[in-house]
Amino acid sequence: MRRKDIFCRAGLFFAVILAAAVPVTGCGKAADGRRIVRIALGQSESHPEYIGLMAFKEYVEEQLGDRYEVQIFPNEILGAAQRAIELTQTGAIDFVVAGTANLETFADIYEIFSMPYLFDSPEVYQTVMGDEAMMNGIYESTDKAGFRVLTWYNAGTRNFYAKKPVYTPEDLKGMKIRVQQSPASVKMMQAFGAAASPMSFGEVYTAIQQGVIDGAENNELALTNNKHGEVAKYFTYNMHQMVPDMLVGNLKFLNSLTAEELEVFKEAARRSNEVELEEWDKQVEEAKRVAAEDMGVEFLNTDVELFKEKVLPLHQEMLLENPDIAQLYTAIQEINENMKAQGMEYGPEMGKGEPEGEIKPQSAMEAGLGMIWKSDWEFADEKGEGAWME
Ligand code: GCU
Repeated sequence: MRRKDIFCRAGLFFAVILAAAVPVTGCGKAADGRRIVRIALGQSESHPEYIGLMAFKEYVEEQLGDRYEVQIFPNEILGAAQRAIELTQTGAIDFVVAGTANLETFADIYEIFSMPYLFDSPEVYQTVMGDEAMMNGIYESTDKAGFRVLTWYNAGTRNFYAKKPVYTPEDLKGMKIRVQQSPASVKMMQAFGAAASPMSFGEVYTAIQQGVIDGAENNELALTNNKHGEVAKYFTYNMHQMVPDMLVGNLKFLNSLTAEELEVFKEAARRSNEVELEEWDKQVEEAKRVAAEDMGVEFLNTDVELFKEKVLPLHQEMLLENPDIAQLYTAIQEINENMKAQGMEYGPEMGKGEPEGEIKPQSAMEAGLGMIWKSDWEFADEKGEGAWME
């Protein structure tokens, strides 16, 4: 049996079991001959990412509905993050939404996002994520692994939550805290002084409930959407990371598209990003209300500096170990400085107040990034035109 057939069959196996309502006849083909495009998602149907992906589906089918049908598989039904990425890598499925921590093993540039307190504010984070010059280089970094990122989704700010209150890093001593399955996440947790317990996202609820771990770290939606607020009642706003999720596509599939089709998929991704970002802001507010009022979760404000002190030495350590992130790091620090100079203060209220004067984010180009990127994956002169070659 040829390699391709094996992967097709693996894909079909999942599709038949999980989407029995849709008749599937060939490798990725619906009964009516349309190519089925499968997307794996770890989150539920009410999550901003699912709503963003619905916009992706709608646009692709509106433009290319005679040729493509998009199917979204939420709730980790195609497997936890690592598994779903592998399915995308082999082409058994076409897309996956993956947190950057899970991409670190495929391209070490992604370690940059695991660096605690990298971005001074949500504004800096969103400026960087929205900067095409900076992002294109990152998006292409997994080409060798067989996949390419099309866009990013906001996954908010990560904070500790646990069965008992965490007011200062001292409280973390002796606690077992779940981290994502990445070496950088483990290092961060150790620097905070807690015992790191790497596991997949889907395992966290039961692990807290059964006392296997004392808590975890994530955004507010983990409390409500993933129900972690039922088992962990204290959420501490220490704000150690802003970590995006990525819409990752199988490169062979993307390269099999005509130039016109590729443009449609890229535009669909852009739209899904817009929808997700807007939905994210709405849902975070609602999640805070539901967690506090209906689930009895207490939100604790804390002295962020105390947490920051513990992990800032990691920046130099990570930069020494991974030179690929150095240039990006410098550019982000310059954007941090630039925004600080314009009145953006770091603290529990960050991102909420109106800074004085107009904010002028510095672009990656202004910060010295862009065409001089030094690594084995360089910026090309022309971007986004026509098919992407491996
Ligand atoms: C967030 C994020 C996911 C990630 C998860 C985790 O929910 O959106 O991509 O997998 O956290 O902590 O594992």
